[in-house]
Amino acid sequence: MALISAIVLAAGMGTRMKSGLVKVMHPLAGPPMIAWPVAAALEAGVADCVLVVGHQGEKVRSHFAGRNEIRFADQSEQLGTGHAVGCAMPQLPGATSTVLILCGDTPLLTAGTLRSMLQAHEASGAALSVMTATFAEPFGYGRIIKGVDGSILRITEEKDATIAEREIREVNAGVYCAERAFLEGALAGLGNDNAQGEYYLTDVVRQAATQGLSCLSFPVADPEEITGVNDRVQLAEVGRVLRGRINRELMLSGVSMTDPQAVYIDHGVRIGRDSVIQPGATITGATVIGERCQIGQGALISSCSIADDVVVKAGSVLEQAVVHEEVAIGPMAHLRPGSVLSAQVKIGNFVETKKVFMGQGSKASHLTYLGDATVGKNVNIGCGTITCNYDGVNKHQTVIEDDVFVGSDVQLVAPVTVGRNSLIAAGTTVTKDIPPDSLALSRVPQVNKEGWKLKKK
Ligand code: UD1
Ligand code: CA
Repeated sequence: MALISAIVLAAGMGTRMKSGLVKVMHPLAGPPMIAWPVAAALEAGVADCVLVVGHQGEKVRSHFAGRNEIRFADQSEQLGTGHAVGCAMPQLPGATSTVLILCGDTPLLTAGTLRSMLQAHEASGAALSVMTATFAEPFGYGRIIKGVDGSILRITEEKDATIAEREIREVNAGVYCAERAFLEGALAGLGNDNAQGEYYLTDVVRQAATQGLSCLSFPVADPEEITGVNDRVQLAEVGRVLRGRINRELMLSGVSMTDPQAVYIDHGVRIGRDSVIQPGATITGATVIGERCQIGQGALISSCSIADDVVVKAGSVLEQAVVHEEVAIGPMAHLRPGSVLSAQVKIGNFVETKKVFMGQGSKASHLTYLGDATVGKNVNIGCGTITCNYDGVNKHQTVIEDDVFVGSDVQLVAPVTVGRNSLIAAGTTVTKDIPPDSLALSRVPQVNKEGWKLKKK
């Protein structure tokens, strides 16, 4: 097969997004919009990609930093799609003979569709192939003008079209395959005598026709794939489609979702079979979830590693946490970065952890803050326990050894160590280390004044 390179156009600001952020960097199911067409092109078999960047080009560059197969071309002034492709041509490797051109704002195109198009292009021997779609409402798209033999004669933009041409419903999807030699010549011949005063890439079609070269039209099987994102309404629609694909793939691999429409999972998240995801769950970043887990309503899980048989109850928030087998979390628990929960740990409602290691089988069932702490095995942390880890300047460590029982409403003023198998009485403020096998108690003795209430009256 010929060596194929891709050119992806991404220099425009996308003014209809009404955003301070360039259009192609808006996130869609995790990665920025631009990552989707680039991934589809690479998966379809192109050897490398040239991204044409302009507005906030440094943001696009830094997203792809370290990727050798991706090169950049600057288009400082957006003079049109033809001009943009012209900027990219000098960046193509010498061996490239065929060029796949696509836009950074059509994230639904699949690798399968691009591969079919590349195959059809190569088989036909055409100098140029154009992906087309037929829409009931073609407004805004370039219209495909065909000759009697069915070959494409030219593409006319909405703003340049006659009333009769506007009736045509077959439109230009904005995806092209071109032979490099033809493309180089055709770009050199582009003018900007049109309604927008731009160098239109679509005018290379007319040049193929006048040179007597064939131009193939490649109708896309599913027109939804070419949906362009121009505003935030389309951004939301496209996001829904991408999430639908992610959820479908997960469900087919053995994950259950009670209402997949209401489950928000990023690209790249991995979930094991027989796990069940409830509505409103949002799972982002490089999260990995094991088998037979239950992720409750509205749980928010970001960049976590979760082993098998874990239950995350409704409303819990987990960030950069590591959770081992058979742990139960929530409802409404908060695992902050650096929380590591060993097997069979229980973290109950309104418990917050940060930079905490919890040993196997330990429990903090209610209303607790554990920060900068190492907790051993089989430790019971009573309701309302607080590690006082911050003195206003520095953070200090709390160490609680194996088999400790911490009563309710205990404050551990760090740095402090609780020796193994000790018991801390309810209401104690721990300010000194506790030796192993001890009882620690710092309560003021209770005084009962009998008859006090009657005397008051
Ligand atoms: C273009 C096509 C139209 C097609 C439609 C499909 C042309 C002249 N028209 O119109 O026939 O139906 O796509 O979606 O090609 N860009 C640059 N530099 C520029 C101009 C554009 O990089 O100088 C980039 C934009 O950032 C965008 C893409 O090219 O990612 C398409 O540009 P846009 O202005 O959106 O083209 P359309 O008007 O949609
Ligand atoms: Ca335009």
